[in-house]
Amino acid sequence: MAAKIIDGKAFAARLRLRVGEEVALLNSRHGTVPGLAVVLVGEDPASRLYVRNKAKQTGEVGMASFKHLLDKDIGQHELLQQIEGLNRNPDVHGILVQLPLPAHIDANSVINAINPAKDVDGFHISNVGRLGTGQECMVPCTPLGCLMLLRDLHGNLSGKSAVVLGRSNIVGKPMANLLLKENCTVTVAHSRTRDLPEVCRDADILVAAVGRPEFVKGNWIREGATIIDVGINRVAAADLGDGETRIVGDVDYAECSTVAGAITPVPGGVGPMTIACLLANTVTACCRANAFDEPKDLVV
Ligand code: GUN
Repeated sequence: MAAKIIDGKAFAARLRLRVGEEVALLNSRHGTVPGLAVVLVGEDPASRLYVRNKAKQTGEVGMASFKHLLDKDIGQHELLQQIEGLNRNPDVHGILVQLPLPAHIDANSVINAINPAKDVDGFHISNVGRLGTGQECMVPCTPLGCLMLLRDLHGNLSGKSAVVLGRSNIVGKPMANLLLKENCTVTVAHSRTRDLPEVCRDADILVAAVGRPEFVKGNWIREGATIIDVGINRVAAADLGDGETRIVGDVDYAECSTVAGAITPVPGGVGPMTIACLLANTVTACCRANAFDEPKDLVV
């Protein structure tokens, strides 16, 4: 039977509407406008596009957007000074430094220079530790978006077998921690895992975040499993014409959508959730900074 298609695009649009309502309330009740600063170093085209989309959607929900486009040759010290300035700026409630950073910059030092209360990416070591120990924190946006889709579909995730394919700091590790917190039985699999297809076949929930186009095949997954595809890979599309490309996920959608119970498409699945969760995290950061009540059930 064909899998249910998990419509992340529609879910993200509803979340953005909710965020917009909360922004309007903060403004009318307190005269406060949540502000998000995005820092981009260099001119990587994909990163530029992400940053442009983040700034655009920040404005659309009524928040203040601060864009800092910095030269690719900026020194570490100067970049840290910029972060310090944003930490001190009371109009900035969230700070995001677009990754990857150029090789001459120590990304960990930069991330850990962000005030953890403004770290809307949830990458600061303090937020990572708090997530791992089940304490209130900023939760990384992509895994948070995946969890929201899973909770919407299943309600309670307790006892489910979850396999996270990929062990990055941005997705794999925080995703595993979030699913553990939901009482799933979690396996983190990666490129060195023995018999990957067999491990994946054990999953009630499979989250694929390996950055390899159409890597997960139909015979790797359990009948009726829920498949969350985090991958965004641009590949040649000879069928569309010479030099044409298309975006595919880490999951072979054509194969897996005939076996899975539910699956996220690419594009239109997890992707739109990331920025929507970033906006939600910025509202949360603004409320916490000002000791305002936090909106109920904005995120899970
Ligand atoms: N690069 C790719 N994904 C992300 C993300 O979620 N946050 C930041 N800061 N950089 C990224």
